[in-house]
Amino acid sequence: MAHNSFPTDHPAIVTCGLPYANGDLHIGHLRTYIGGDVIDRALQKLGQQTAFVSGSDMHGTPIAVNAREKGVSPEKFALQWHEKYQNTFSRFNIDFDNYGHTDDETNTALTQELVRDLDERGHIYESEVEVAWDTDVDQPLPDRYIEGICPYCGAVARGDECENCGRHLEPGELGEPRSVLTGSPPEYRVRQHKFFRLSDFQAYLQEFIDRLEGTENARNQPREWIETELRDWGITRDLEWGIPYPKEETDLVLYVWVDAPIEYIASTKQYADRVGKDVFDWTDVWKQDDGEIIHVIGRDIIQHHTVFWPAVLRAVEYTEPRAVMASGFVNVGGKAFSTSRDYAIWADEYLETGFHPDLYRYYVTTGSTFQQDIEFSWERFADRVNSELVGTLGNFLYRTLLFAYRHYEGTPDAPLSEGIHDRIQEANDEFVAGINDYSIRAVGIAALDLARFGNRYLQQSEPWNLIETDPERASRVIRDCIQLAKAIAVLIEPVTPQKAAHLWEQLSETTSVHDISIDTALEAPASALEEPIPLFEKIPDDSIEELTEALRE
Ligand code: 2FM
Ligand code: ZN
Repeated sequence: MAHNSFPTDHPAIVTCGLPYANGDLHIGHLRTYIGGDVIDRALQKLGQQTAFVSGSDMHGTPIAVNAREKGVSPEKFALQWHEKYQNTFSRFNIDFDNYGHTDDETNTALTQELVRDLDERGHIYESEVEVAWDTDVDQPLPDRYIEGICPYCGAVARGDECENCGRHLEPGELGEPRSVLTGSPPEYRVRQHKFFRLSDFQAYLQEFIDRLEGTENARNQPREWIETELRDWGITRDLEWGIPYPKEETDLVLYVWVDAPIEYIASTKQYADRVGKDVFDWTDVWKQDDGEIIHVIGRDIIQHHTVFWPAVLRAVEYTEPRAVMASGFVNVGGKAFSTSRDYAIWADEYLETGFHPDLYRYYVTTGSTFQQDIEFSWERFADRVNSELVGTLGNFLYRTLLFAYRHYEGTPDAPLSEGIHDRIQEANDEFVAGINDYSIRAVGIAALDLARFGNRYLQQSEPWNLIETDPERASRVIRDCIQLAKAIAVLIEPVTPQKAAHLWEQLSETTSVHDISIDTALEAPASALEEPIPLFEKIPDDSIEELTEALRE
């Protein structure tokens, strides 16, 4: 079954993978959230109704281990990070319609409801399992409390996942296990745990993966996992921190990967409760197959979103995801950022440099395809800002607006040339095709190419000479260029929303560039214009040298 092209009549839900609320975000983390924000804004430009939701991932050993190290309760620890993330996202103009967290009442209630439903429908069974135990401190060692060797790729991995090969690991799978608390090899004790019958969903998942849209990595990588044996999924843990399994007979909590994606639904519900059912009916979109669900994630969590999660949704008869967009990582000097070695550019650090957040949004959106890893260096950053944003985009806009202001005090009274109309239409078509291909890069490039075209047009037409020799033609060229500037503002808004809003103001537009549709790119510009100010500033070399020095390990 092929999906209809965007815009469709069904609301879209764009979700971003939930960050664990356990430490500072670096600019590599931000890539996924910027990607989600860009696709959400771009879909809205097509007239697609959307809800953009996410939340903080509060449970599980990622939080418990770090909170214990800091000597605070997991709840207090996670809530502090949750608040910090909300602030960071908003400073980067990542504009969620709802940003909740997995420990709130909505998610707790919904998770328990869905797990009860799974249980009642016969998708869950209980089985004995050997659980790793640290006898020195007498406590079980679920997930991140244990480290060892990944049985699939041989790298050092944590109890439930291997960062190197991206595989989910079941308890007991690690080779040479060691407790992260004491370094001792664990003892194994038999415990009763709950399992989800994932193996029942093999045939379904094989069909699902054929329909799934999004980036190629998310559509192809899971095939091998689905086609080989699908083992049932352990969904409970011996931990105190988490959502209790919703049956009285057990003191287990749910595995963090059960309640985390349910926050996508809980967060949509909170949004719908706020705006009202008439604007957004969360039950229709999640339960009645009336939603276009687009998950935007990092490439390390593809398996959860293309295997476990769709199987759970299917089991409770909820709407399946339409697309998964999995982003590559951001590397520096060919190496991944490392939180533990403090080798990263933190989100706050970036903001402290004084560089506008939109510059990084542009860099990371257009520097490679979404699924590829992208290299970040301050030199490369400055080069791209100086050549593309200052030299191409800013230059075209400033030249155009200044010329129009000085010679006409606004948009000259002339008709739009057919060739320019067609060139803008072409850019709009590229934008629409880009979104339908889940390519946020294409969205940004459509605008930049238009500026390149505009610069060539100005250069070839030489309106500064025409104003003497052929004033009518000069007016027409500038009228065309203002239209190009207007189209650029519309098309670049998803990528650089604040800069687009400044440009919109300089174009004396009275609406919000965020709310308008791409067709506005071809609507007549305002007639009176103020004196423009350059949209982007050149980054000087010396500031880059200092930043590069500071990043050396
Ligand atoms: O890997 C992680 O960072 C997890 N916190 C992602 C959770 S996404 C989810 F909700 F499905
Ligand atoms: Zn591995």
